[in-house]
Amino acid sequence: MIIGIPKEIMHSENRVSATPDTCAKLIADGHRVLVEKDAGLGAYFHDDAYEAAGAVLVDDVRELYREAELVLKVKEPLFNEKLGVHEVDLMHAGQYLITFIHPASPVNHEMVKNMAKKGVIALTLDGVPRISRAQNMDALTSMSTCAGYKGILIAANLLPSFIPQIFSAVGMIKPLNALIVGVGVGGLQALATAKRLGAVTHAVDIRATAREQAASLGAKVIDIDIPDEKAVGQGGYALALSPELLAHERSLLAPHLPKMDIVFLSALVPGKLAPTLITKEMVQTMKPGAVIVDISIDQGGNCECTVPGEVADEGLVHIVGIKNIPGLLPNSSTWMFAQNVYNLVKYLVQDGQIKLDPSDEIVQGILTTKDGEVVHQGAKEAMGL
Ligand code: NAI
Repeated sequence: MIIGIPKEIMHSENRVSATPDTCAKLIADGHRVLVEKDAGLGAYFHDDAYEAAGAVLVDDVRELYREAELVLKVKEPLFNEKLGVHEVDLMHAGQYLITFIHPASPVNHEMVKNMAKKGVIALTLDGVPRISRAQNMDALTSMSTCAGYKGILIAANLLPSFIPQIFSAVGMIKPLNALIVGVGVGGLQALATAKRLGAVTHAVDIRATAREQAASLGAKVIDIDIPDEKAVGQGGYALALSPELLAHERSLLAPHLPKMDIVFLSALVPGKLAPTLITKEMVQTMKPGAVIVDISIDQGGNCECTVPGEVADEGLVHIVGIKNIPGLLPNSSTWMFAQNVYNLVKYLVQDGQIKLDPSDEIVQGILTTKDGEVVHQGAKEAMGL
């Protein structure tokens, strides 16, 4: 296949969908790879490295979209301000697209319908199921890992104090306390990072498995007294709690907040809005200089005071609502993302072409538009189709 790697056009998006390494692998598998000039620069992968890997550099992205049978991207198609054209309008019928589309999100409905109309076969990476055989294709998990690590470093930078215990000639400085709420993929990485920086770590989750993993990383687990049958559903996934149980959880969390210096929020039930676990009143009880990092912001956030895309202040507490945290770690996040995408392409290609088996759980999860229709279940429901 001819595979196109355009430069991302979203403002301050530094990631790219392929590294020189994954290009070399695609080429070794028999594909031809076109890379837009400077596509990897933001992630510190230079044009020379792509050329050395055997990719062909393309100056004009229109040519790349015209020639490619498969386009690999990081973000959903957007309006290209420089060219004055939407990326969907650069695509053609029968062309495959693999990227994060978030097709159920209302802001993307029109774009997804346009892709369907164009005859583009769009596959969304946020639909890769969290099952063992899809683990190495799961870009969402990779990005949550990046957000967990970098989110704690952002907190460390904003904090006015040392994190670890420090012995000095003028006395001992106590280590800070970090609370991680929601110890899934992002939360566990945040926990490990806070621990490595020397914080005393605390954790909360409604799933017993997550609590056990947090404890095994040395965290003190806070009991929020939610019965398992109300918290865990089929396949071990978390369930959305009733308003009463959420209020109960908040009331048990509240007394711990005045002791915390870092609060990392990553509580989410797949496909739902993020539960509000920290209210404004709770923030007001926190220490001056404390930092909240709320990575669930794309789903509305876990804290009432989080401002999407911003670092906000509530009194003397900083609340981080930065959206694209993996983009602040562009080399590692690109390395992981490109590897996930390569594994997915390898999985889907048979005899040099993409073959989509409609009975396959992975294909069912990612297939978004095909044969002129929107086929993604979540998107159809959200669009009322
Ligand atoms: P995950 O599904 O692995 O973890 C979520 C955890 O929250 C689960 O362990 C679940 O049991 C727990 N949870 C659910 N309801 C809870 C409640 N009421 N109380 C306590 N715990 C609860 O999700 P993952 O991959 O770690 O992602 C977490 C969030 O991070 C998502 O909202 C995701 O979109 C976001 N994210 C944000 C990024 C950014 O740049 N801001 C980048 C990557 C991910």
